[in-house]
Amino acid sequence: MTTAYLGTIVHTKSFGEFESFENGFLAVDSSGKIIGVGKDYQEWISRNPGKKTDLTEVTLSDYQFLMPGFVDCHIHAPQYAQIGLGLDMPLLDWLNTYTFPLEAKFSDQKYAQQVYENVVSATLRSGTTLASYFATNNLESTLILAREAVRQGQRALIGKVCSNCNSPDYYVEETEHSICATISFVEEIKKLGSPLVLPTITPRFALSCSKELLKELGDIAKRFDLHIQSHISENLAEIEVVKDIFKTSYAGAYDEAGLLTNKTVMAHGVHLEDDEVELLKTRGTSVAHCPASNTMLSSGLCDVQRLINAGVTVGLGTDVSGGNSVSIQDALLRSLDVSKHLDFFKKQNIRGSGEAKTPDPTYVQLKYKQALYLATLGGAKALSLDHLTGNFVVGKEFDALLIDVSVVDRPARPLNVDELLEKFIYTGSDRNILEVFVAGKRAKKEQ
Ligand code: GUN
Ligand code: FE
Repeated sequence: MTTAYLGTIVHTKSFGEFESFENGFLAVDSSGKIIGVGKDYQEWISRNPGKKTDLTEVTLSDYQFLMPGFVDCHIHAPQYAQIGLGLDMPLLDWLNTYTFPLEAKFSDQKYAQQVYENVVSATLRSGTTLASYFATNNLESTLILAREAVRQGQRALIGKVCSNCNSPDYYVEETEHSICATISFVEEIKKLGSPLVLPTITPRFALSCSKELLKELGDIAKRFDLHIQSHISENLAEIEVVKDIFKTSYAGAYDEAGLLTNKTVMAHGVHLEDDEVELLKTRGTSVAHCPASNTMLSSGLCDVQRLINAGVTVGLGTDVSGGNSVSIQDALLRSLDVSKHLDFFKKQNIRGSGEAKTPDPTYVQLKYKQALYLATLGGAKALSLDHLTGNFVVGKEFDALLIDVSVVDRPARPLNVDELLEKFIYTGSDRNILEVFVAGKRAKKEQ
């Protein structure tokens, strides 16, 4: 069976290249793969006469469009239990006061089941078709998260979090246990047999892992060719401690352990030095930009154009619950805010600010179509899954959102393609997301 969507289609091809088809089409086969996309449906049908039988046509309204699903490159699933709470402290105090006590509760599998069911459905409802999740130190409950993603039909990278030092007594692992549980996790995920979910090596951050554990985790990632995720250069106080312990840069600490690979995504990167940016680029390591969390936890303003210009791939992360929203659409909007704020700072456009530390009259603000790239294809690239998802290319999976900008307020006049997208980005919410598709299957639950 083939389904053909007829109407407005938008997606990106690179950071600088946005593409749209007004009165276009997108055809999906029964396995959930895109088999045709473009301007001229009739021409495609005439080239593919066999598709005419068993064909369903879905015609979009003038206020609707199809776009690729959102990619969340960094989210802590257990922290959904405290989303919107306790955002009055910087990182290290926040971890000790709120977050470690919360995550320790996930040794209770019933509690884990409840929270993980909710976080997967909340992210799907917000249009996240692919998420890179941190779970907790607890192996069994991390498997619950993986099963939940499979059950609800979300594409996900999932990591059992590893930490063996500089952590509270009630939430720390023995090195050997951390390694064995990680290997068991990888094996158990394979047994699930779902193409949607992949295991990810997840040292929490350099501060909470010994050199030995980092090295072991790097070796496991290499042995099984796995994705890797962690945090880097988020907060100034944290960076000082990491440098002091490892006697090298933050990026250097991971690199020595073999953890910077082309399948690694590092969250934040707010304060990376030039040589660290160069190292990430050389290793093919990506950055998850988490604008909400960087503001909420007072970490700083991340200059993503600097990273992109240096050749580092960037995607967006909600970083729930350092970030206060599960929505990548919200992260997209925040990335635009942060870029404007950086621009004010760099152009000394703030009353009474005196000299900016890093004035830069040449700074160019992020544009909404570039931010759309970060929220979709950039994220898929950052997670090394752009061969499968991130935009609408024949052969990729149909991971998509059906947006309707007339759901809450009908626009006062007809909108062109760019305006439909702008309207959604700047005023939309999950109410405007009518359908969420992952690998061609409907994945949004009725509310
Ligand atoms: N660094 C180490 N753990 C965390 C976490 O849970 N959230 C954030 N934002 N940063 C971290
Ligand atoms: Fe985080």
